Amino acid sequence: MGYKVAIVGATGNVGREMLDILSERGFPADEVVALASRRSVGTEVSFGDKTLKCKALENYDFSDTDICLMSAGGDVSKEWSPKIGRQGCVVIDNSSAFRYDSDVPLIVPEVNADAITGFTKKNIIANPNCSTAQLVVALKPLHDLATIKRVVVATYQSVSGAGKDAMDELFAQTRAVFVSDPVEAKKFPKRIAFNVIPHIDVFMEDGYTKEEWKVMVETKKILDPKIKLTCTAVRVPVFISHSEAVNVEFEKPISAEEATQALRNAPGVLVIDKREPGGYITPYEAAGEDATYVSRIREDATVENGLSFWCVSDNLRKGAALNAVQIAEVLINRKLIKPKAQKAA
Ligand SMILES: NC(=O)c1ccc[n+]([C@@H]2O[C@H](COP(=O)([O-])OP(=O)(O)OC[C@H]3O[C@@H](n4cnc5c(N)ncnc54)[C@H](OP(=O)(O)O)[C@@H]3O)[C@@H](O)[C@H]2O)c1
Repeated sequence: MGYKVAIVGATGNVGREMLDILSERGFPADEVVALASRRSVGTEVSFGDKTLKCKALENYDFSDTDICLMSAGGDVSKEWSPKIGRQGCVVIDNSSAFRYDSDVPLIVPEVNADAITGFTKKNIIANPNCSTAQLVVALKPLHDLATIKRVVVATYQSVSGAGKDAMDELFAQTRAVFVSDPVEAKKFPKRIAFNVIPHIDVFMEDGYTKEEWKVMVETKKILDPKIKLTCTAVRVPVFISHSEAVNVEFEKPISAEEATQALRNAPGVLVIDKREPGGYITPYEAAGEDATYVSRIREDATVENGLSFWCVSDNLRKGAALNAVQIAEVLINRKLIKPKAQKAA
């Protein structure tokens, strides 16, 4: 007997990707339910070779559902995740609403799967920000090898990280430039087509943006609170996959060769690193893939024990939907939940 799984936000970028990944990985679900807002009732979404008709979240009873993959933004999550959790359904939440709650584990399975047991306090598990997920997957094997002191990261984040309306805006602006129509910016504060914007999410008092703050705080919670990290988050006119230029300072010496070997052996990482034109990964190539790719691994002689690298991953997959499904798989593989239908039988 399998699990009953609900996807909240099934019509969105991440929700659709979740449905694809559940089907691709043969997730042990007897039933998958697609939920979205009232606007989308009856909208059809693909699930493997089936189509599912969306139902409204507000009318749905979660009492016989085992796992809810929640991907409908922070406000919806704040209102619904605690209620769903109280109905005995484990919520894996993609928003930032519960990531910093000490009673909610923040999980990247390749990095801190053991921390998942804390989920029973609220029946909620948080999925990190897309930029954090790929970063910690790449940092973990290096931290194990030489202990990270400080990280400086600049992100190059695709528009799909801001939802499907943002992807439409990049498309519409690009088209407008080619046909000499006026370029309208609604979703982004400035034109994104043929441009880059050094601002994601709201500004904080200290001058950092919330997106940058999330990467700093989440890396500490997932990997190690002692790591110092500073981030500049930038939106770029790429549809899918986030890239990161990462500089790391370690406690112990580490050569580029040792780092490469550790990364090659690490779960979830693929190293593509030939020191020649095209011998590295770009976001276009990482789209649709599960791996966190690492390229351009080199020693940084300007600091003691320094290393730089380039890291790329599909933000809708490892940065969101894939990580959420992997968390659900950890729950099942470690026998932390049982299907409610089985318990009732
Ligand atoms: N995109 C990424 O790279 C990424 C990475 C990590 C985390 N996340 C997080 O994942 C979440 C979803 O992102 P997305 O990119 O998929 O956004 P999106 O494409 O804009 O989709 C939003 C989804 O939420 C649903 N929704 C909105 N209001 C709702 C309500 N009141 N009740 C039920 N459903 C509602 C929408 O349904 P309708 O179609 O009916 O409006 C839609 O299915 C956000 O929390 C985001 O921060 C995204």
